[in-house]
Amino acid sequence: MTIAAAPHVLSAEEIVSLCKQYTLYDWMAQSAADPLPVDHAKGVYFWTTDGKRYIDFNSQLMSVNAGHGDRRIIEAIKRQAEKLAYVNPFLAHEPRALLGQKLAELLPGDIDKVFFTLGGADANENAVKLARAVTGRYKVMSRYRSYHGSTGVAMAMTGDPRRWANDLGTSGVVRVLDPYHGPQREVDSAEKALDYLEETIQLEGPHTIAAFFLETVTGTNGVLIPPDGYLQGVRELCDRYGILMVCDEIMSGFGRTGAWFAVDHWKVVPDIITMAKGLTSSYVPLGAVGMRPRVAEHFEKNVFYGGLTYNSHPLACAAALGTIQAYEEDDMIGNARRMGEVMRAHHQELADKHPSVGLTRSIGLFGILELVRDRRTMEPLAPFNGTSDEMKAIAKYFREHGLYTFLRWHSIMTNPPLCITEDELNEGFAIIDKALDLADQGVRR
Ligand SMILES: Cc1ncc(COP(=O)(O)O)c(C=O)c1O
Repeated sequence: MTIAAAPHVLSAEEIVSLCKQYTLYDWMAQSAADPLPVDHAKGVYFWTTDGKRYIDFNSQLMSVNAGHGDRRIIEAIKRQAEKLAYVNPFLAHEPRALLGQKLAELLPGDIDKVFFTLGGADANENAVKLARAVTGRYKVMSRYRSYHGSTGVAMAMTGDPRRWANDLGTSGVVRVLDPYHGPQREVDSAEKALDYLEETIQLEGPHTIAAFFLETVTGTNGVLIPPDGYLQGVRELCDRYGILMVCDEIMSGFGRTGAWFAVDHWKVVPDIITMAKGLTSSYVPLGAVGMRPRVAEHFEKNVFYGGLTYNSHPLACAAALGTIQAYEEDDMIGNARRMGEVMRAHHQELADKHPSVGLTRSIGLFGILELVRDRRTMEPLAPFNGTSDEMKAIAKYFREHGLYTFLRWHSIMTNPPLCITEDELNEGFAIIDKALDLADQGVRR
């Protein structure tokens, strides 16, 4: 069979059926895959090959933070491709130099050195490697309501059900509960969560624990915003026991919360920070591990036993520089803060109007609506790790009416690109408003 010269020679049906026949889809039985054939995208919209427009209310995987089709990012990639598409990571090149320097300026506190990876999971893998080497300790701690990636240790650190089928239990990971505030449990104070954490550290043996990994604002497990005092308390406990604090900002970084990094809201500086997604707005794959001098210094004399063929890939570094330029020129971080207030007002309006809206949470343009059958008991509209007829009906409504976002269990994610305008937010929330009439039908009267 000859390979088609350009993708548009295929019909929408052919694209979908060839993708399904020859490639594997993430996190599902393949018979359940029902992908949209996407043709092009601009700003907060994308279009399928048959010309239908969708408003992207999840920035794809909470990652196209600058919006689609930004010329500054595209041109940066094109210029770099013309000049130097690839050199190996033992050499030096301009985009690597400039991006390293720029990140040292943007990253919290004195974090001033990065190791570049291909994405989020391998950023976390390498963060574990660094922490083990620096502390000489093996165990790592993480939290149950978390996702850290689908590779070995990153998968084991993941607390949510995506780990269940993948966990061999040999990774040295110890998991703890987080300060959760959702329908299934009472609000936990920072003090209570910190008490659990300290007790677990004591019981495990502090001298065996290299690092504590946490998503600063937890992403797919519910946009969980830490109560004030929690991150400061984690910092203090880590200092007390010589444990490295590692913040996973793969989803919460690069403006998503209305600050460059979510830790900036609480003025906490972790020892290590991991990032990906918004670093290039996903135009090309790139992740990074940022570290404070006290971590980096260890590797001045000691070998860093790590490496990747695509460490500091020139196209990816150039894309990141173009992306950061776009964030800065258009003040997208400020826009995330301002539009975050507009989004919060929409959430409130929906909660006032629809009995199915049990809880809303947001910080910047990182938001979620939790749907319930009954506000008194807060019984969710779909079970933990499951779905329901109502959630399926909402998904169908969104697809038919041109809104793209993630539904997870009983929740609707609202994470649009940071370039979104008030009118565009109104447009998306008008569709969500109508879909919630379907959710209200599942509410117990
Ligand atoms: C918080 C967090 N950590 C890690 C990852 C893994 O990143 P990747 O899919 O690029 O490996 C993700 C991806 O969704 C994430 O949200």
